[in-house]
Amino acid sequence: MKILAIETSCDETAAAVVEDGRRIVSSVIHTQIAEHRVYGGVVPEIASRRHIEQIDPVVSKALAEAGETVQGIDALAVTAGPGLIGALLVGVNYAKGLALAAGKPLVPVHHIRGHIAANYLAAPDLEPPFLCLVASGGHSLIVDVRGYTDFVVLGRSRDDAAGECFDKAARAMGFPYPGGVELDRQARGGDENKYRFPQPHVAGAPLDLSFSGVKTAVVNFLHNSAQRGEAVDIPSLCASFEKTVCDALVSRVFDAAAATGARTVCVAGGVSANTRLRESLLAQGERAGLRVVMPPLTLTGDNAAMIGAQAYYEYLAGHLADDTLNAVATLPVERGAPADFAG
Ligand code: KG4
Ligand code: ZN
Repeated sequence: MKILAIETSCDETAAAVVEDGRRIVSSVIHTQIAEHRVYGGVVPEIASRRHIEQIDPVVSKALAEAGETVQGIDALAVTAGPGLIGALLVGVNYAKGLALAAGKPLVPVHHIRGHIAANYLAAPDLEPPFLCLVASGGHSLIVDVRGYTDFVVLGRSRDDAAGECFDKAARAMGFPYPGGVELDRQARGGDENKYRFPQPHVAGAPLDLSFSGVKTAVVNFLHNSAQRGEAVDIPSLCASFEKTVCDALVSRVFDAAAATGARTVCVAGGVSANTRLRESLLAQGERAGLRVVMPPLTLTGDNAAMIGAQAYYEYLAGHLADDTLNAVATLPVERGAPADFAG
């Protein structure tokens, strides 16, 4: 079964054709990062406008690269939330129009479920149950994936998401948006034990996280050093920061695996591109005797192939949209049935 998937939840306009939830036939991503960089973050109005301009060429390219026309596709899928509402609406309205015109079923997909499904593209034999660490710009979650459309959140960040924390710390160090990537690069040459930061734990909730203290500590440290005229060893600051954030994420997901008896640990979201996080997950998996699956770097950030992968399982569960389909800005990962996106 071939699904044409569309993703416009933030600053990437993406379309892909995916077969049976596991094989990428084509995948096209138009990123707006360069345009938002001058503002230090995503400007929602600019994002929506670019999606409107790019969606038709991006979808046409994904179909052409797959050697398909919309008539040869079995179903359409679209990210309907969570994300920037104006950005989501571009994809949702385009997909509704195309599905109606072509007479094809339309599957609404939860963005975070899509990130998790990137693991099905990485490991074609992977099946639930497994645990997934979700670390993106907007979410940090420990998710028990009990079935393809059955999710239970075991732990979450109480304040900033991991990606947000990376970006804010990077911004304070003067790196351009999105700073997570540059912080990762700088950290390679640093001493991770040079600086100490508050631990991101939450008293009484061992699987939850709190990153705002780490972020504030980096900002205050840089400010105080500048006032005193002291030089900061930036690579070591990056390495020490990364150690604090990544150790907290990795220990949570393996603690959750020990508690639930899960044998497989996956990772998802933009921060799963982080070098230290990936190395640390693999090392810890080997120590604990658990299988670790992670998406390739081409599938960690926002893309439509992951939406096509999840859409296949939503389709099998009968999750088809009708004309009440709307976009939603916030929605817990437990909820992703068509009624949860109805407006
Ligand atoms: O999943 P994503 O592409 O978008 C959301 O759904 O939020 O995640 C974007 C986040 C940004 O905060 C970005 O800085 C972070 O992922 N990121 C990284 C790395 N690459 C992207 N953070 C740390 N290390 C990286 N290599
Ligand atoms: Zn995302």
